[in-house]
Amino acid sequence: MSLLEKSSYWDSFYSARKKGAPAYPSQFAAFVINELSEVDGVIEFGCGNGRDSEFFAANGFELLALDASTEAIALCRSRSAHACARYVHSTAGNARDAIEGFLEGKRKVAVYARFFLHAIDEVEAAALLDLLGLLLPAGSLVFFEYRTVNDADQDKTFGTDHYRRYLEHASALASIERAGFRIVYQIEGHGLAKFRDEDAKVGRCVAQKN
Ligand SMILES: C[S@@+](CC[C@H](N)C(=O)[O-])C[C@H]1O[C@@H](n2cnc3c(N)ncnc32)[C@H](O)[C@@H]1O
Repeated sequence: MSLLEKSSYWDSFYSARKKGAPAYPSQFAAFVINELSEVDGVIEFGCGNGRDSEFFAANGFELLALDASTEAIALCRSRSAHACARYVHSTAGNARDAIEGFLEGKRKVAVYARFFLHAIDEVEAAALLDLLGLLLPAGSLVFFEYRTVNDADQDKTFGTDHYRRYLEHASALASIERAGFRIVYQIEGHGLAKFRDEDAKVGRCVAQKN
């Protein structure tokens, strides 16, 4: 599936859900906010409709949220209630300038990406990890949650007509470490991202920049 096909899937997904999309935060965001001590800001990749970004902003965190879908970013901007939140239309691969601008004057940040690593291909994921390894200040935290290979055959609430790259949990952790991070918490399991009839098998990790 090409980049254009992937982004037009997400454009129609968010365009069709302007009114009905859940605006409440995910289980992962509720987990992460407890871990955000002493960070100067949060960068979210693949923010979708902004459900989690707005939650971080509502709790006072300066926020940069990026998404490759124009419809998703338009939806976020139309809903956003917080001056400390900035929504940027960008692929992760093209985010270097936005990240560098956000990092100016910051000593420690958190990077957050829920259901994002499995939505991009291996090359872009590796480039993003390398970029984070290069740019983030030491001590910064990254939080990832993604579908794992053990989730591939389970039924999906939002169908199977779009790109998903199921990750092998141990390999994902190893690639995060190779990019210059230390894994401080990780788990793979059910019950972490339950949505209606679907209880996805996901990997979660928290890692700290060396
Ligand atoms: C499965 S959704 C997750 C949305 C949100 N994080 C959530 O958990 O509800 C994946 C998101 O990643 C975005 N996305 C896909 N490829 C991207 C890329 N290369 N760069 C940035 N965003 C991308 C999509 O537009 C979509 O909003």
